[in-house]
Amino acid sequence: MKNYLEIKKTIKSFKKNISVEGDKSISIRWVLLSSLSKKKSTAHNLLKSEDVLSALKCIKILGSKIKIKKTKCEIIGIGLKEKLKKNLILNAGNSGTLGRLILGLLVNSENKIKLVGDKSLSKRDFYRITKPLKKFGVKFYSSHKRLPIIMKGSKNPKSINYQEKKGSAQCKTSIMLAALKSNGTTKIKAKKSRNHTELLFKHLKLPITIKKTKQYDLITVKGVNNVRSINYNIPGDISSCAFFIVLTILSKNSKLLIKNININPTRIGVIKILKKMNASIKIINKKNYKGELIGDIIVESAKNLKAINCPIKYNTSAIDEFLIIFLVAARAKGISYFNQLSELNQKESPRLIWASKILNYMGIKNTLTKKSIKIYGDSNLVIKKKIIIKKFLKDHRIFMMSVIAALTFGGNWKIYDLNSINTSFPSFLKKLKYLQQ
Ligand code: S3P
Repeated sequence: MKNYLEIKKTIKSFKKNISVEGDKSISIRWVLLSSLSKKKSTAHNLLKSEDVLSALKCIKILGSKIKIKKTKCEIIGIGLKEKLKKNLILNAGNSGTLGRLILGLLVNSENKIKLVGDKSLSKRDFYRITKPLKKFGVKFYSSHKRLPIIMKGSKNPKSINYQEKKGSAQCKTSIMLAALKSNGTTKIKAKKSRNHTELLFKHLKLPITIKKTKQYDLITVKGVNNVRSINYNIPGDISSCAFFIVLTILSKNSKLLIKNININPTRIGVIKILKKMNASIKIINKKNYKGELIGDIIVESAKNLKAINCPIKYNTSAIDEFLIIFLVAARAKGISYFNQLSELNQKESPRLIWASKILNYMGIKNTLTKKSIKIYGDSNLVIKKKIIIKKFLKDHRIFMMSVIAALTFGGNWKIYDLNSINTSFPSFLKKLKYLQQ
């Protein structure tokens, strides 16, 4: 099958209801936490993307039993103290979340374990994880900055005090998982980031305390001997939903209802930013589910989009959505500013650099630095030329951003690495087809 997509026409107006697949962050956390319980855990609407399948493969290699059925997934884990086999090799594929979180889980592995990943993951920073893990007593027999990493845990990991300064939920979570397997109380001063792990720990009645200050959360986690099973209905992923929110905003006379989305306040920076740019977005039917907030999102075409000087307080809660937000800035009246975003260049591809390239291809003037981008919006732009997008390290979000740009700004696009969507949103094209019917 061809592995590219050609788009030559913009999308016609639509008024529809859709849902999106399960949240990736919660799906991976559910898999890893379930592997710590010896009882059966069940999840409905688990995201069945490559990142989550890699997580299932990793915990299977570590000894968990897994059953994947049509609508549900069951895991019987190995507990916290099971001795692992020798010479295990785990493959995190494309997933930074899996690669970084699973290293935390391996804090007490008494045999050497090797962690590998794909080309994109092998370029990403792992020092942010190996640094705190060394304090727990983990030893590294390879580079501790990039994959492949060979490590050996400690029989009795010590608890640690650590300050997490990047606002990385992956880093925070990796430490929290290691803390569960350690003796004593680990204290983390973490710059605010998505809090799914904290909510799951609370739901599982694990010994966690959280004190919130303006910029940091002071988290303590005590070591435990067992973890309960988790039955969970995974809500829709706001990061997948965001592509359809922006598609609707940038299409004429359109309206979309997207049901059952995780609207955890630490994830909805995208909605706050787009509303400030004059987008019409409403959230209805809000409810609490096991500590997470869930709701239905209604979005309509926008008329007078305005530029934004994006407050940096939204950076972590919108970190995965900036690519698609930049397209709205490209359509808005005026100059938009996005600052202190160096973390965007640490993702599956250097996304700030790629966003600038794509905007240049589109004919949108922009100024790029190592950590910021200034976008000169053009409310009237109609693209007429041919645009080819390739060699973007198979970054799923670069692919989807390009598709939404093609469907809303026009032009004759050829976008390579179509199968990159399988990492986070395998049904992306099917949903688009449904809107075009
Ligand atoms: C994630 C945290 C974020 C995000 C990633 C998923 C998570 O990464 O970009 O897609 O599930 O914890 P960082 O922790 O590197 O900010």
